[in-house]
Amino acid sequence: HVIHRGDYRPPDWLVDEVALDFALDPEATRVKARLSVHRNGAHERVLRLDGDGLTPRAVRVDGADADWRMDGPALLLDLTGDAHVVETEVEIAPAANTQLMGLYASAGLLCTQCEPEGFRRITFFPDRPDVLARYTVRLEADARRFPVLLANGDHVGGGELPGGRHWAEWRDPFPKPAYLFALVAGDLACNADTFTTRSGREVQLGIWVAAGDVERTHHAMRALKTSMAWDEQAYGREYDLSIFNIVAVADFNFGAMENKGLNIFNSRYILADPDTATDADYDAIAAVVAHEYFHNWSGNRVTCRDWFQLSLKEGFTVLRDQQFSADQGSPAVKRIEDVRALRAAQFPEDSGPLAHPIRPDQYIEISNFYTPTVYNKGAEVIRMLLVLLGPERFRAGSDLYFTRHDGEAATCEQFIQAMEDATGEDLAKFRLWYSQAGTPRVRATLTQDAPGGRARLRLDQAVPATPGQPDKQPMPIPLRIALFGQASGTKIAEQLVVLDESHAEILFDAVPEQPALSINRGFSAPVIVESDRSAADLAFLSAHDDDPFARYEAMQQLMIDTLVTGIAAGDADIAPVIEAVRRTLTDPALDAAFVAEAVLLPSEAFIGDQMLVVDPERIALVREGLRAALGRELEDDWRTVYERHAANGYDYNPTAKGARRLRTVALGFMAASGAKDVPQIALDQFARADNMTDRQGALGVLANGYSPEREEALAAFYARYRDNPLVLDKWFTTQALSTREDTLDVAKALVRHPDFTLSNPNRLRAVVGAFSLNQRPFHAASGAGYRFLADMILEVDRLNPQTAAKLVPPLGRWRRFDEGRAALMRGQLERIVATPVLSKDVFEQASKSLG
Ligand code: ARG
Ligand code: ZN
Repeated sequence: HVIHRGDYRPPDWLVDEVALDFALDPEATRVKARLSVHRNGAHERVLRLDGDGLTPRAVRVDGADADWRMDGPALLLDLTGDAHVVETEVEIAPAANTQLMGLYASAGLLCTQCEPEGFRRITFFPDRPDVLARYTVRLEADARRFPVLLANGDHVGGGELPGGRHWAEWRDPFPKPAYLFALVAGDLACNADTFTTRSGREVQLGIWVAAGDVERTHHAMRALKTSMAWDEQAYGREYDLSIFNIVAVADFNFGAMENKGLNIFNSRYILADPDTATDADYDAIAAVVAHEYFHNWSGNRVTCRDWFQLSLKEGFTVLRDQQFSADQGSPAVKRIEDVRALRAAQFPEDSGPLAHPIRPDQYIEISNFYTPTVYNKGAEVIRMLLVLLGPERFRAGSDLYFTRHDGEAATCEQFIQAMEDATGEDLAKFRLWYSQAGTPRVRATLTQDAPGGRARLRLDQAVPATPGQPDKQPMPIPLRIALFGQASGTKIAEQLVVLDESHAEILFDAVPEQPALSINRGFSAPVIVESDRSAADLAFLSAHDDDPFARYEAMQQLMIDTLVTGIAAGDADIAPVIEAVRRTLTDPALDAAFVAEAVLLPSEAFIGDQMLVVDPERIALVREGLRAALGRELEDDWRTVYERHAANGYDYNPTAKGARRLRTVALGFMAASGAKDVPQIALDQFARADNMTDRQGALGVLANGYSPEREEALAAFYARYRDNPLVLDKWFTTQALSTREDTLDVAKALVRHPDFTLSNPNRLRAVVGAFSLNQRPFHAASGAGYRFLADMILEVDRLNPQTAAKLVPPLGRWRRFDEGRAALMRGQLERIVATPVLSKDVFEQASKSLG
């Protein structure tokens, strides 16, 4: 059953008030709902209440038993008037809910996840985001097992009950769609704090976790308070309730959820201390805390009319969290990380069978559209508006959007309209970014008429065909461009070019010296740039460009060109890469965090993306060869860097983070050189580390080798952290990502390890998700990697379809591989599709992946 964007109809009935009454119990929870509904103008008289796996135990309309019927999982009522009170009662079993959607049990607590369509697993309701209602929620539970009872909004009452039970009542004054409903019941401890908003409202902040974990919530609390202040200053957005709670749960399908006033988080995005969390974990926690907090405006105060508009809230909120993180540390490094993530996850999606526009046109299961395209490309699209309009005009557009649509369920179109109305800019063509899928390719050719004369930059764009979209129109592509003089090393010209036709020619008058082209600076547009810049041009830019992103990019392009030549021709001149890395490594003006990013080789997967036919074995071989050469040729430099950034007491700040990162990157190159003393150096780092970043960094380096030190470190790590699930996930992932020859067998063994479980999504992704991204072993020519993944998908699908479906995309890349591998990948997809009992989540992903 396919849902089409064009079929949107406003709801027949609206809900003004909802009163929910929960008698909570893991085995059998009774849910009573009282909905005050009114007919939406002249619409249908039949009221359709969505349900999923629910059986009504009682249905009353205006206090009297009513006639009702089921239409599949939905409950239908023929209503006669224009306003009624509808009451239903159901019983659900949270402990048996392995999908982790709706109300479920996790490590002794009860919690909810409703976005996008989980609320219908709790009670009958018009479960669509354009039905906004005010909620009152009464919770009742055993007082000893569930001493804490939380829901959205303000706590308005509570007390003891006979039989060791107690109750609490919560009221959310803001109308909201059902997907933002949440409740939590459990034995939780609280890190309590307060924040005073700029207009003087005092907000009680609470981060709720298991009793022993409170000490690991301080970083998240700091991030929350910083986010609240940042949104006031950067977007003029102030918090609106007097309570803001966050709860961390161990079993969660994705990162976190922005339920009004009661965010629920995967515990990996809350819990941190130096001994158990890496710098990357710390950064991710701050980013996700900020993301969910920012949703209070971009998502909750202004929500989405329908799920096709998902990028309206997600793209915008990702941009906002990226801007926040950039402001907390190094903007350049943050941009590099975000672009690397986009290229690793979104570019492959955009060039494969699951490609879709940031505002999709159809879906079978909406859960499959929480994608890198909707999130990350969505953020890039809004970032282009920021580039095109400039920060002040962009802010004016954002202000207008929030004022105009506050309390409404809006569309992407309305967002663009607000940007147009606030700035007078014509964004007609820009709308193509919402409707066309595929990553545009821009060819850039720079020529000079004569020495000292005019330079011309020829630009050509092509948007590739994607499923359902064979022909594309040219898109408006904002490209920040500069020319640098190769002799003087200075910037000759700089401008923003908006390429909105298939071709354009830009002229630069009287260019005094031979120019080098810097293009798509700061990654101003999410496109692939193809240029014929020579190794010398790229090496020059990697040393002289004044835009740090462009400088990183020049180095990456130089490495890619060298690797791709080496893979195709068997031999490439690696001297320019070695020289460029040496120069970067020894440039005293560069900070360590940037250097660490710049000298990293592109991933095997990204190299594969540059090839017509991916050859996983050769890619790994040639890449390892270059790593080894860099390790050997620059051995002294790596060792100097390693010593210079030696740890001297842990602190979490940008400088210390950069030092840790560069140190472990250097250790990796030292190991690649094959020097015999490196395993012992790594083991020393591992053993002496006073923080997880250094410890895991050393473990990761050791895990790629075959030394006895490797076994020692893995065993020590396991012994030390076996009772900490989040850290144990790292132990699993490190092995699943190893470059060793035996990683496929190791991955198969890991899923039989006593600590492995299919029911915890973090653990599943730690092994199976990680392995499926480890290009060489996953693409073993025998097809055993594909079979392993398909086996796991089918097993997980019986428990948790949403999480199973997220594992499918690596199999969909078959078009990019040789015939043998393509046939084996297709074979597994066909086997999945032919499985008799299959969720629609996995069916949609697997059948579309077959193309
Ligand atoms: N809205 C949540 C967030 O971005 C994520 C919800 C994901 N839901 C899903 N079915 N994948 O913060
Ligand atoms: Zn989000």
